[in-house]
Parts: sequence; structure tokens; C-alpha cells
Amino acid sequence: MRTDPFETIRKSRDDGQPLPGFAYRDDDVFAVESATLFRDGWSSVTCGQNVAERGDLFPVRIAGQSLLVLRDYEDEIRVFYNLCRHRGAPLADVQCRARSGRIVCPYHAWSYGLDGNLLAAPHFHRDESCEASIDERTGLGLLPVRTAVWRDIVFVNLSECAPPFEEFIRPLDERLAHWTAAELRPLSSDEYDIQANWKLVVENFLDVYHLPVVHPELVGRFEGILDAVDVEVSDDIMGTVLPDLYGQAAGQAESPLPRFSGLAPDEKLRIEVFAVFPNTLILVEPEVQQVIVLRPQAPGVTHETFANYLVSDRSQTDDLAKEREETYRSSVLINDQDAALLALLQPTRSMALGGHTHLTRAWDETIRRFQRLWTDRLLAAADR
Ligand code: FES
Ligand SMILES: [Fe+2]
Repeated sequence: MRTDPFETIRKSRDDGQPLPGFAYRDDDVFAVESATLFRDGWSSVTCGQNVAERGDLFPVRIAGQSLLVLRDYEDEIRVFYNLCRHRGAPLADVQCRARSGRIVCPYHAWSYGLDGNLLAAPHFHRDESCEASIDERTGLGLLPVRTAVWRDIVFVNLSECAPPFEEFIRPLDERLAHWTAAELRPLSSDEYDIQANWKLVVENFLDVYHLPVVHPELVGRFEGILDAVDVEVSDDIMGTVLPDLYGQAAGQAESPLPRFSGLAPDEKLRIEVFAVFPNTLILVEPEVQQVIVLRPQAPGVTHETFANYLVSDRSQTDDLAKEREETYRSSVLINDQDAALLALLQPTRSMALGGHTHLTRAWDETIRRFQRLWTDRLLAAADR
């Protein structure tokens, strides 16, 4: 008989052990994660730059739900369930633009406005040429999802029960106040299909120990990361600070890309990296913001939006084209290196013996904290 996976996870936590291997591949664990961790709180779904123009549509799947992210008539980002109110077809299955500001269902051509209202349903009464009246259309609009946008990251709360988003994000918002959000300018957004469990992607993001090994272009020596400091921002937000601008050799020319104006010119330059539970990863440098949004599709498959931002309109000028290209190229190189490593890690770390691994006191405390948070939330949900 199969032992209860949640009891095994509880025992691992109580014994101070790392997560058991099956936590990264088990269908029951994945189902509980989807139904609770990704629904109860604020999960990100993608970045606003993927719906840059009015009428842009970006379908995503997260927590077993199909959602449609869009930019409406007023330039606001909205999220609806990607579900036609007639017979349930998806309104978009790839990134696209609503023609003439109408979202037309591919099944029987009901059409919706960017505010979600049902605009028309052809031959609604069949034997008459007239369409549905306003009264008949009312109540058949797209179903809205509770949404918040912060630093161009689109968050949703599917349970409708989470505390206000501002309250949830405030500790990190205050911490990043000097990296002025109003100055962010999109540089790139790419979609990745990572062949690994989403938790391994989070743990890898919090892991500074791998930097000199997997990304020697950034910093080739362990000495470059010895000064990294772990930070706990709130119950849901943890990270690491690399206090010296690691990867930049002494005497190397400073980047000509503009910095966030909130950073004092003589301020010690640093890179800060945060995981916002469960699935949002954010990195800030003096001239760059990077965002990774994780959308788990199966225990071993994670869709990822990987986005970069530069600072202020000055970063968009022609004379900085080379620097923009180089920032993009090096970020993609690093993400490709991580994706390759994660695809190798998935089949080994998820083995039964994967729980017989060792998180070091010196390097892996933030990963341990993430695992403990995941365990506490999962067990609380499983007990409900
Ligand atoms: S399912 Fe959309 S119009 Fe019929
Ligand atoms: Fe990495």
C-alpha cells in the first residue's frame, strides 16, 4: 500500500530533512499545489509587456485554469477566464490581437468587448435576424479574475479570498522603492518551456552557490559570491543580496545604461534577488529589472515568462542599441544555462533518494526556508 505522501512530507519537515524526491514529481502533490497554493494567494501569470497594445490578448494556463490576459480600451490590464459563456470554447489559444477591439469566439462567433461584455451573439433567436437584446446579453459577459499589476507583473487571486494585493506586496514594494517602478521600460519577454518542477526553478533562482559554476561569464570564482546575504522580506517573500556588483571586475567600465534615479550616485551598487511565494521571481540591478513568472503545467513541466526591463526613456535611444542587445543576449544565455541544468536536475532530484540530499548551512538556508514555507502551506491545505 502506498504511504500517504503528505505524512511523508510532514515527517521530512519534522526531521529537518530536505523535501522528499516525490515532492517534485507526484501527481497528488501537484494537484494539491494547483488547487491551493496557486489559487489561495497572489500568483503571477505573465508580464504586462506581453499585452503592450489595446486589444492584445495573452492566454495562459495556471492552477488548472485557462485565463485570458488583455489590455482594455482604457489601457488597463484585465484578466478574464478564457471561457466563452455560450458553450465554453477558449477565446484565444495563442498570443494575438482582438480585431476592432472585439474578441470573437472561434466556435459560434459570439463577440465580447475588451471590458468583457457580450456585444453580439449572431442569430441568437434563430428564426429572427435580430441579435440578443441588451437584457439578454447582460450576465453573459466574460467572467473576471481578481487582478493586480505591480512593476509590470500581472498577478491574480483565483480564490477571491487573498488579502488586498497592496498589503501582500508592501514589504517588497518598500524595499524596492529606490528602483523606481515608473522608470521601467520593457526590453524583452520570452516564453520558456522548462522541463523541471516549478519548485526546482524557484530554488535555483535563490541559489547563489551555482553562479560561478553554471554561469562563469558572470563571476568565475567563488570569492565573488562569499558576501551574499540572505534576506527575509515577509512570510511570503525571501531573497538574497549580492552587495558588490558581482561579475563586474575592478576597473571595468561602468555600464552606460541609465540607472534607476532613486539610487544615490554613491550608493553601493548591488543586485537583489527575490522569490515571492509561490511563483514570482524578481531580480533588480542598478540598470535592469528581470522577472520570471512560473506557470506549472505538470509535475515536471513549467511554463515560464522571462522578461527584462531597462530604466527610463534614455535607455531607448539609438546610441544604446548595442548595450540593449548585449543585456538581452547575456540574460538569455544565463536563462538557457539554467534551463539546461534544471532539465538534468529534475530526473535525479525527484528520485526516491533525492530526499537523501544535504542543504548546507553556509549556502542553502534560503532554499531551506522556501521548502519549509512550501511544506507548511501544503500541509495546511491538505488538512483542510
Ligand atoms: S462556444 Fe463560443 S460562441 Fe459558442
Ligand atoms: Fe542560474
